[in-house]
Amino acid sequence: VKYSVSEITDIIKDRRTIYPHDYSNRLVPKEIVEKLIANAIWAPTHGKTQPWRFEVFLGNENTKPLTQSLANIYKELTPIEDFKELKYNKIASRGEQCNCIIAIKMERTDTDKIPEIEEVEAVACAVQNMHLTATAYGLGAYWSTGKMTYSEQVKSLLNLKNSERCLGFFYIGYLPAEFSWPKGQRRPIEYVTRWNL
Ligand SMILES: Cc1cc2nc3c(=O)[nH]c(=O)nc-3n(C[C@H](O)[C@H](O)[C@H](O)COP(=O)(O)O)c2cc1C
Repeated sequence: VKYSVSEITDIIKDRRTIYPHDYSNRLVPKEIVEKLIANAIWAPTHGKTQPWRFEVFLGNENTKPLTQSLANIYKELTPIEDFKELKYNKIASRGEQCNCIIAIKMERTDTDKIPEIEEVEAVACAVQNMHLTATAYGLGAYWSTGKMTYSEQVKSLLNLKNSERCLGFFYIGYLPAEFSWPKGQRRPIEYVTRWNL
């Protein structure tokens, strides 16, 4: 055995989606964000296209305008009869509760060789690397999508090129001392596995 399997298992199982309303206001340092991204880019990538792109919003002066814009996009995209003020406020307030947001993007370079789904898969692996690394630091993290993510409005908000897609927003934050880390639940492997022995 090359590494501690029990340690990596612990990190994998302990990785939880933890939402911005639970974060403390302690600033996430740029150095930590660099570590998360440095691990993200070691995800597997078909054809070595390395399709992941990140845009970091650090500090409330950057996160607040971002989530306010996302809330406005939610409003724009939602028919009046479905619009929920509560949801609008929830989205908008995340930039106050969270001082570090990373926009997750995918850029297609080798369009003839690699199917788009595989570029998306590679970016998802990169996000998992970030999330596991955040877990190792004891940081809360949350991959958020929602219908805004794939909208024209987010395309212009992030100045996406035609070759780029937004795959969501990754929220990161320290947790207060009294925070109790949630336990997850999964179906047993018997449910998801068919064996040919
Ligand atoms: C691609 C992707 C998009 C997600 N988008 C959302 C989202 O928009 N809102 C949300 O509450 N959770 C979102 N999640 C987080 C899931 O809700 C979460 O992973 C799931 O509840 C399992 O919890 P865990 O991450 O703590 O194991 C997303 C997860 C993935 C992988």
